[in-house]
Amino acid sequence: MNLGRPVRRSLRSPLQRAVTFWWTNGDEESRQGEGRSRDVSEHGAFVFAPVCPPVGTSVVLTIDREGIPNEIGVLPVDVKCEVLRVEPPTAEWEAGGFAIQIGTNDDRCYLKPNVMIEPLVDGWYAWAHLIPPATAARNLTERHLKIMESYIETPESHQAAVKNPTLLGGPFMDLGENRVDDVRDLRERTLHERSQLVRLSGALERLDALLREKATGFSLEALYAEVPEELQGYVELVYDLNNHPSFRLIEPLLYKSPYYDESLQSVMLSEIRQDDRPFVLSTPRIDSNGSVQVGMPFASEQLDKLFRMKNEPFTLREIRHALGLNDLQAERFAAFLTTEKPRPYSKYKGEGARWRYFGHACILLETPGVTVLTDPVLSYTYESDISRYTYEDLPEVIDYAVITHNHQDHILFETLLQLRHRIRNIVVPRNGGGALQDPSLRLLLKQCGFQNVIELAEMEEILFERGSITAVPFLGEHGDLNVLTKSAYLLRVNDHTLMFAADSCNISPKLYEHVHKQIGDVEALFVGMECDGAPVSWIYGPLLTQRLERPKDLSRRLAGSNYERALALVDQFHCKEVYVYAMGQEPWLNHVMSIKYTDKSNPIIHSDRLIKTCITRGIKAERLFGEKEILLPYE
Ligand SMILES: [Fe+2]
Ligand SMILES: [Fe+2]
Repeated sequence: MNLGRPVRRSLRSPLQRAVTFWWTNGDEESRQGEGRSRDVSEHGAFVFAPVCPPVGTSVVLTIDREGIPNEIGVLPVDVKCEVLRVEPPTAEWEAGGFAIQIGTNDDRCYLKPNVMIEPLVDGWYAWAHLIPPATAARNLTERHLKIMESYIETPESHQAAVKNPTLLGGPFMDLGENRVDDVRDLRERTLHERSQLVRLSGALERLDALLREKATGFSLEALYAEVPEELQGYVELVYDLNNHPSFRLIEPLLYKSPYYDESLQSVMLSEIRQDDRPFVLSTPRIDSNGSVQVGMPFASEQLDKLFRMKNEPFTLREIRHALGLNDLQAERFAAFLTTEKPRPYSKYKGEGARWRYFGHACILLETPGVTVLTDPVLSYTYESDISRYTYEDLPEVIDYAVITHNHQDHILFETLLQLRHRIRNIVVPRNGGGALQDPSLRLLLKQCGFQNVIELAEMEEILFERGSITAVPFLGEHGDLNVLTKSAYLLRVNDHTLMFAADSCNISPKLYEHVHKQIGDVEALFVGMECDGAPVSWIYGPLLTQRLERPKDLSRRLAGSNYERALALVDQFHCKEVYVYAMGQEPWLNHVMSIKYTDKSNPIIHSDRLIKTCITRGIKAERLFGEKEILLPYE
């Protein structure tokens, strides 16, 4: 268990207490005022008073503490604080008042470990298809607008559907209560601010229709004049060798076009205290009490300052300036701060290597010389019954962050952006052929401020001291779409070999016969066995401009290896250890996975069988869940 530090709670007392306060005015005169407090917490309070000090003034304040519950925390007798906001009298309250933040803007503070930072585009959680303009356009019209319209029409059916476990991950908004007005506002804003993306989405549909109708095997040159205006200059028209027409997008130019609008990127900060989060593909992130939304391009270096603040103290003044917070935002933001130092990270100092499982497909491997983190997806730190490693259990520098494929449970911008300042290199599968369903990860990450992206083609390797990373082909799990952004990785450290196969589906065992000849045996295999998989339309549906018939959709699944396929991998590489991972079982991943297995679920039945077979054969095997640590001694 690694949650050694008690997690502070933010509580407020509604009691009104008598307060006296002192400040110095512009002429250096000492002033005194009296009033009554409301909403006292460890972070601040609101004071009703006939005379209020101006915003930004440092104030010393005495609160009559009698009757304030102990849980509120220790309030000093004389509180040094700063005025955040002054409000005039209202009908409800005869006196005006001022909000204070305890401490001053010049105290150096850390961001609390349970502060969640979610990247958003247009108010929706930024998963990888919402950043490239073409996939964003299709998701906007075919997913977001449709869900928003349905919610506005029948919010009660959404509220009922999200409570039904058989509908998990479906197109239903999980907003907790009726937020029709907010959703209507978001819809209007989207239509107004994203009209160019709505047009781009329509143009992609018309281009597909044009190719279906007129690209019949003859030269495509005459069709360029008929390419929808919105896409003119951004596409090349092509045939495959069997005269099936298609197009490729010139992605670098689309990122430079008006279709890529960084002004709609933001981060939402709030405190997280438990695992449950709404499923992000179908629920927008709507501002709520206590959250702070900061509009800022993901590429902004100012965000790194914010992310660093979990380990490096800054003053509120500095961070407020960096993020451009207004008074209300600064007041809310102050509640995210603590003067408590973060738990220090104990670096692995052993002779060999150590790996730690952080949940799903996220594994940290540390040697005295190098750190590698696979598919970074992390939990924040808060009280929980399920033991886990969190953001606080990472070293200062991650030499290689390694991404297996472009599914939202393997490339999570929420985690990656927060680690950006620590990641020396980010390794991704080579792609970039311009297919709509396969946006370039290198371009996408560069747009998001990563300057250190390494693309690895199949069987290429990166060498480091006493080790290497080799990209191994990854087949299947993408509904038979032509997607190149897929790679398993072989990690060698000294004489140890670990293969991270992620969701590789062993549909062609001969492949691994060829791979085995190149890389030899593998000591430890990490394999995903989500062998049912969602239909291809779950992720890629919005990109299809013609509806895929249901039986076809159901036959083309995003499924990993089943028992037979995983066992064939174990046999081929003569593995000594087998770890089933990437099963989406950790509850802190519900917001991107929406999976709840029972004992009767195929992934559980198949992985149990694999583990049993392996153990019978003397192979160490288990299904990972929560956390795990293994040491790899050097010979
Ligand atoms: Fe996947
Ligand atoms: Fe996965």
